[in-house]
Amino acid sequence: MKFHFEGFPPKAHPMAILSSMINAAGCYYPELLAPQETQSFDEATAFILSQVRAIAAFAYRRSRGLPFIYPKPEYKYSANFLHMMFSMPYADYELRPEVVRALDLIFLLHADHEQNCSTSAVRMVASSKASLFASVTSGVCALWGRLHGGANQAVLEMLEQIHREGDDGSRFIEAAKDKKSGRRLMGFGHRVYKNYDPRAKIIKKRCYELFAALNVNDPLLDIALRLEQAALHDPYFVERKLYPNVDFYSGIMMRALGIPLPMFTVIFAIGRMPGWIANYREVSESEAGAIYRPRQIYIGEPRASYIPIDQRDGRGGTPF
Ligand SMILES: CC(C)(COP(=O)(O)OP(=O)(O)OC[C@H]1O[C@@H](n2cnc3c(N)ncnc32)[C@H](O)[C@@H]1OP(=O)(O)O)[C@@H](O)C(=O)NCCC(=O)NCCS
Repeated sequence: MKFHFEGFPPKAHPMAILSSMINAAGCYYPELLAPQETQSFDEATAFILSQVRAIAAFAYRRSRGLPFIYPKPEYKYSANFLHMMFSMPYADYELRPEVVRALDLIFLLHADHEQNCSTSAVRMVASSKASLFASVTSGVCALWGRLHGGANQAVLEMLEQIHREGDDGSRFIEAAKDKKSGRRLMGFGHRVYKNYDPRAKIIKKRCYELFAALNVNDPLLDIALRLEQAALHDPYFVERKLYPNVDFYSGIMMRALGIPLPMFTVIFAIGRMPGWIANYREVSESEAGAIYRPRQIYIGEPRASYIPIDQRDGRGGTPF
């Protein structure tokens, strides 16, 4: 690991560290900056898939002021991530098979699919012939928002708030239906899945299994179940085809694994990485190779009046 994390303030958000460091990795490995030219695409892919996990774990350690833990070659992907996150210099983290399997599942279910916001961002940047590092970094940045990959963190914050306020979920559901409240039922709805997100079904089942194996009793899971049942029978959600998506249960599962909130979207990004790289490759190898340029149709005022700057009263602003 050639990276230096000391430049980041101790409380830096792990997503900020992840996006900066993946892009910066290109500086440490200039020979991988234009892999389509150097024929080393597979090498760059292996490098990024491995490093994203190490950077993510290191970002967590940095945010907690903990010493970095180096990977063990004998561990597989998820086990090594858990080791780098949670081991201490004086004691290795105990790798329970059900925990490793749960993390494997989380990575798998967060795999890239279709033209969602982050994948489209990767393809857009890749189409300009930017480097692989720059292109996948744009995916990390796009994923960060709460309407996309940030939703898993937003779900947990919502559940915690409901719990804190002693709500059984019904007050929150009412607020989520009221546009003026500015609230949404996080983890519900999907641009493509207009019935139950198949990933949510799988993760919900595995959540129960994991909780039983770890002997976890989390009140937030009960709140989530109540919210789900209420929404599934509420005409507002039924008519709009709003069902739980993968983020609704993945946050609860990550919490049971001891993963802190700011790391949720980081873990999502690790799962997305192979797909983003494949998308980058597809765009780079496309024979047409044209840069992406969505058309924009202007729907604003055809004429806009304005007061010339030297005739304004000095308070600034442009009255129309
Ligand atoms: C995922 C999401 C961005 C999809 O958005 P979309 O396909 O553009 O759907 P829209 O925002 O157009 O919503 C359609 C209608 O459902 C409502 N709606 C959508 N998601 C809602 C939610 N989670 N809670 C309450 N109302 C919601 C909208 O207000 C809109 O109502 P209207 O027709 O009365 O105006 C959206 O459902 C959402 O914000 N979900 C919560 C965040 C989330 O879980 N994101 C993770 C996605 S995997």
